Amino acid sequence: TMADHLRKFETLFTLTPQRMRMIVDAFTESLEIGLESPGQVVPMIPTFVFGWPSGHETGEYLALDLGGTNLRVCLVTLNGGGKFEITQSKYRLSEEQKHDDGQKLFNFCADCVKTFIDSNIGNSEEMIKSGVKLPLGFTFSYPCSQDRIDHGVLLRWTKGFSAPNTEGQDVTALFRKALEDHKVPVDLVALTCDTTGTLIASAYVNPKTKIAVIFGTGCNAAYMETVKEIPKLKDHGFASDAEIAINCEWGAFDSYKHEHLPRTKYDVVVDESSNKPGEQAFEKLISGRYLGEILRLVICDLIDEGVLFLGQNTYKIEIPYSLDTAFLSLMESDPTDELLMIIGIFTHFFALETTLAERQFFRALAKLIGKRSARLSACGIAAIVKRKDLLDEGCSVGADGSLYNKYPGFADRVHEGLQDIFGDKGLNIVTHHAEDGSGIGSAIIAAMTKQRKEAGL
Ligand code: BG6
Ligand code: GLC
Repeated sequence: TMADHLRKFETLFTLTPQRMRMIVDAFTESLEIGLESPGQVVPMIPTFVFGWPSGHETGEYLALDLGGTNLRVCLVTLNGGGKFEITQSKYRLSEEQKHDDGQKLFNFCADCVKTFIDSNIGNSEEMIKSGVKLPLGFTFSYPCSQDRIDHGVLLRWTKGFSAPNTEGQDVTALFRKALEDHKVPVDLVALTCDTTGTLIASAYVNPKTKIAVIFGTGCNAAYMETVKEIPKLKDHGFASDAEIAINCEWGAFDSYKHEHLPRTKYDVVVDESSNKPGEQAFEKLISGRYLGEILRLVICDLIDEGVLFLGQNTYKIEIPYSLDTAFLSLMESDPTDELLMIIGIFTHFFALETTLAERQFFRALAKLIGKRSARLSACGIAAIVKRKDLLDEGCSVGADGSLYNKYPGFADRVHEGLQDIFGDKGLNIVTHHAEDGSGIGSAIIAAMTKQRKEAGL
């Protein structure tokens, strides 16, 4: 019966508190290894963002956000006192653009910035002629190793991107070339990741923020580390008590060796059929790009076993990535006894008829997969909390991304997970939605960079 099947999946996808604590310990160790030397599994990238914003940062900045699903151009006005205004335009990236030549992708970015300037700020040709350049923060949310704030070499694409001629290259050089070729009156002053942006934007409005996490197409975190605790920076000559934001790129935790995370056979298929087998092992169990695919693979397995949809044509649901993570959100939030939304999803998108028992089963599966994602996320947060010894004083975790913002109960499950790991003290660690890290954060970082330059640092 469906109930027997469900029990089997419950065992597969459920994480006990004990297992979670083991993962946290391995995770903490991985973070420490990453700080020791370059090129580790979890790269722990120094971002060259030094310290927290004062809240007094002001000025007008452009921000370009190349994240995973959309491309956004923002004009941010920082008014100081944690206040800001933002105007933005979104441009959808096509699947093709993710796999076409890298320079073309940056040309498209430059083009979007130019269009935005022309319609929101002023004539870009005139600006070029009179030598006006607007400062721009570039939020590029892929792992880049940096040796200064306005430079970054792409270590590897994540989230399904594969544009050739980009890995191993300085993406700011590619983007600057595009800006020049397209005559865009812009000065690229800072390169950041969405997590770093979110950390800084979060702290600008809420000084209790110590960590930022993105739960979206990908999953990653950033936090502030003291220079003397980062052995790999010891020859750089920075003050030993200076603080520098670390972009963890924790999505890579447990990559290649797969020693610590509980992967099911479905997770193995997701990994092996991806364009980057072995990589981003943690992210593949958690982020929005993959959750729908995990559920789809479970369903396909049960179709093969003759448990589901006997006599129906299942070709649509057999198409990889045809079941979006948004469907899991909908399944979990369906308020009707008959689970009418789930009927809708299956008839509409997959031309399949379902029984009530099947729909309840699908909803239960979505819950298992969604819960596992949130509880693993809690393990990552807990690892940083342990590393920085934040449990007693407590802290706020700025969070953003489609999964965090749209998946029902996601934040509650993360919080429950933290309590399972830490007991009652877990209540001291609270996530909150951070408003627009890539836009506001990028602008604040650009402003901080300007202040440092003016101070001759
Ligand atoms: C947005 C943030 O809300 O979420 C971005 O402002 C971030 O900084 C993005 O990159 C990630 O979410 P998704 O779902 O687009 O990957
Ligand atoms: C991926 C990227 C990382 C980003 C995260 C969230 O993990 O590698 O840079 O922060 O997705 O967008």
